[in-house]
Amino acid sequence: MDRHVRRPHRLRGEIVPPGDKSLSHRAAIFNAIADGAARIERFLPGDDCRGTLRCLQGLGAELRVLEERPDGLTLEVHGRGLDGLSEPSDVLDCGNSGTTMRLLAGLLAGRPFVSILTGDASLRRRPMGRLLGPLREAGAVCVGRAGETLAPFAIQGGTLRGMHHRLAVASAQVKSALVLAGLQADAETTVHEPGPSRDHTERMLSAMGAPVTAEGLCVRVRPLDHELSPCNLRIPGDFSSSAFWAVAAVLHPDAELRLRDVLVNPTRTGLLDALRAMGADVTLENERVQHGEPVADVMARSSRLRGIEVGGALVPRAIDELPLLALAACFAEGETVIRDAAELRAKESDRVASTVAELNRLGARLSELPDGVRVHPVAGLRGAAVDGHGDHRLAMLLAVAGLLAEGETTVRGAEAVAVSYPGFWDDLGRVALGSGG
Ligand code: S3P
Repeated sequence: MDRHVRRPHRLRGEIVPPGDKSLSHRAAIFNAIADGAARIERFLPGDDCRGTLRCLQGLGAELRVLEERPDGLTLEVHGRGLDGLSEPSDVLDCGNSGTTMRLLAGLLAGRPFVSILTGDASLRRRPMGRLLGPLREAGAVCVGRAGETLAPFAIQGGTLRGMHHRLAVASAQVKSALVLAGLQADAETTVHEPGPSRDHTERMLSAMGAPVTAEGLCVRVRPLDHELSPCNLRIPGDFSSSAFWAVAAVLHPDAELRLRDVLVNPTRTGLLDALRAMGADVTLENERVQHGEPVADVMARSSRLRGIEVGGALVPRAIDELPLLALAACFAEGETVIRDAAELRAKESDRVASTVAELNRLGARLSELPDGVRVHPVAGLRGAAVDGHGDHRLAMLLAVAGLLAEGETTVRGAEAVAVSYPGFWDDLGRVALGSGG
């Protein structure tokens, strides 16, 4: 599907972004193995999270959608402990969702049955060896394509050994999978990361009574010797979805947007730090803690930016937002360099290559680095036809670029937004009065 976007005269208003994707996946999976009923409100109705629900149902979990509301799904999950899951009678299709596939693989490595996991063409290209290797070492039998590096793969779960894992790349998906496996092991498991990836798994599981503790870049997991307590939850807004609007507002010459009830966990908000270092006017209001996670309203206003160098520990804290940072850098004074971000090439598309190719069609001057992007500022972008490469975040990035470009931008593959933000085009129409989107 094509969508056409024009630059509006101004960007004003308030957006309540959809529920956080990472928390939605975790709330469903962890409650499915808890003991008792949990109610989850504002569950993200995106394709990725619906895929997690489908897979959990395939594993025999009892869950019901009580209500489909405009602000998300209300779910009831009735967990019957780890042993409440049973061998699926069919392949588990994780669609486009790396989080579904990796978290479930870690969980299923300790379950005494066979599961086969697959996904769409994009997910079947993404690296799974980094996960299946450690799970095999811990004692699970894994058989997959290309020497156990690609999906589809099969797991025969069973008794796992406690292990010390040292991850080569900071990855919350891999860390979370190894934590779920560690809960089912016969001794302590530790997971060391080279950088700070999002810590929602540690927070939510320990709130549910799991013996999981974090010390700096190391997570320690002891075998679960009691059932997890269910956890009622109202999911706050997704920072990654809010980020599109924050960057649009900062870059548009006449803009002020309020993004309400956003999850601002510091392992997620590296983009805010980078934007502020560039001189952007982005602030947090109404800061509070909701179910153990920091939540706030994000205010973003038109700003003048200067280029920066980004790398190191900021990268995992902004991994999904780095393409947006590259867009922001097009409008800054001076060059910007993003490094240490080779992981971007292993996302729903190769986001280094796809971001560079598509933003350059709009007149940007980006060049690829092996581990990132170099951005030369330009006087402005001009509308053109661009392609979302089947990647939800790329399609939304290009829509935001269209809000800033002169003339009309056509975003091909616009339907991909449904993966994480089904209401994206409606929200764009609301804030961008006068846009053709
Ligand atoms: C996610 C972790 C990140 C992120 C993805 C969601 C999660 O992936 O890119 O959108 O929910 O754990 P990695 O952990 O592989 O970097």
